[in-house]
Amino acid sequence: MTDPSRLALVPFVSVADMMRLVHHIGLETVLTELAAEIEADFRRWESFDKTPRVASHSDVGVIELMPTSDGSFYGFKYVNGHPKNMKEGLQTVTAFGLLADVSTGYPVLLSEMTILTALRTAATSAMAAKHLAPKNATTLAIIGNGAQSEFQALAFKAVNGITEVRLYDIDRSATEKCARNLAGKGLTVVPCRSAEEAIEGAQIITTCTADKQYATILSDNMVGRGVHINAIGGDCPGKTELARAILDRSDIFVEYPPQTRVEGEIQQLDADHPVKELWQVITGAVPGRADADAITLFDGVGFAIEDFSALRYVHGRLRDSGHFLELDMIADPDEPRDLFGMLMRAG
Ligand SMILES: NC(=O)c1ccc[n+]([C@@H]2O[C@H](COP(=O)([O-])OP(=O)(O)OC[C@H]3O[C@@H](n4cnc5c(N)ncnc54)[C@H](O)[C@@H]3O)[C@@H](O)[C@H]2O)c1
Repeated sequence: MTDPSRLALVPFVSVADMMRLVHHIGLETVLTELAAEIEADFRRWESFDKTPRVASHSDVGVIELMPTSDGSFYGFKYVNGHPKNMKEGLQTVTAFGLLADVSTGYPVLLSEMTILTALRTAATSAMAAKHLAPKNATTLAIIGNGAQSEFQALAFKAVNGITEVRLYDIDRSATEKCARNLAGKGLTVVPCRSAEEAIEGAQIITTCTADKQYATILSDNMVGRGVHINAIGGDCPGKTELARAILDRSDIFVEYPPQTRVEGEIQQLDADHPVKELWQVITGAVPGRADADAITLFDGVGFAIEDFSALRYVHGRLRDSGHFLELDMIADPDEPRDLFGMLMRAG
């Protein structure tokens, strides 16, 4: 039996390797660099293949595939969303993904993406807020203090200069966990007893709750002028977080309208309700925040290009960090037409 060729061995970043990689680089550096990578890819939005993610729904959750390509690399992510999992001791969201070389079709990276999704979601949120939030925002409210929450807090600190986070969750133990994890990270952390209390004095509000139903995490009277709402928990048909009246008062920014119209907060609105595409704000083609009084809403559902950016970022840092395994994943006989012979020689 011959040894696999170089191209047959695909670098694999396990959960343990991802944790080592993040510690090797530094969490806030990763968040800042990821935000820059995602922003750079949004700037060249038109060079990507785009399609709404392919979703398979069940009564308890969703499983999705998220593909894209820029002509040089192809990437996809497998991701689920099961709000009931947490009560069973499981993650709401798990993911893994793959990056391939378009010139050969051979994979160049297979990676865990549960941690990477939390990192890229927080980096995308912070990057969007950089363009949309009021200038000199210092205070962030986070409603929903589950798996995503600390990543959100630290991305907003690293990218947007947030100094205070105000936390609320219907489950007090989630808020306590989040506050404990953020202690000593350079933020003033204020646990709150209601969503109203959490958003007091906050210029930016992140909603990242999980519930497979239309929910009202923010009602109309709770949201004053001049704030930026980063709504990321409403990301499936029938799963939203904001009262419709807030949407009517907001300037709404989205990733990819054909996907967000189905999955985002704007599923509550008419199909032709005006929204702006974040990539066009980044290129300067359309304005972001109109004035200090405007309510800006980033209706973030998570788009394939963000995962592509994250996979490419990890791929670019593999060799110098050394935190990966090589998987014998692609059958690659020396004589390309002798796949059968390769199998038989192994007998
Ligand atoms: N937009 C994106 O790109 C993106 C990416 C990842 C996750 N998500 C979504 O973000 C949400 C959070 O994900 P997670 O992994 O942190 O989930 P999680 O289950 O770990 O945490 C969700 C938290 O929300 C709390 N919660 C539920 N209803 C609430 C309410 N009415 N008020 C206050 N808190 C409430 C729960 O108690 C829980 O602590 C999910 O809906 C997930 O699908 C979106």
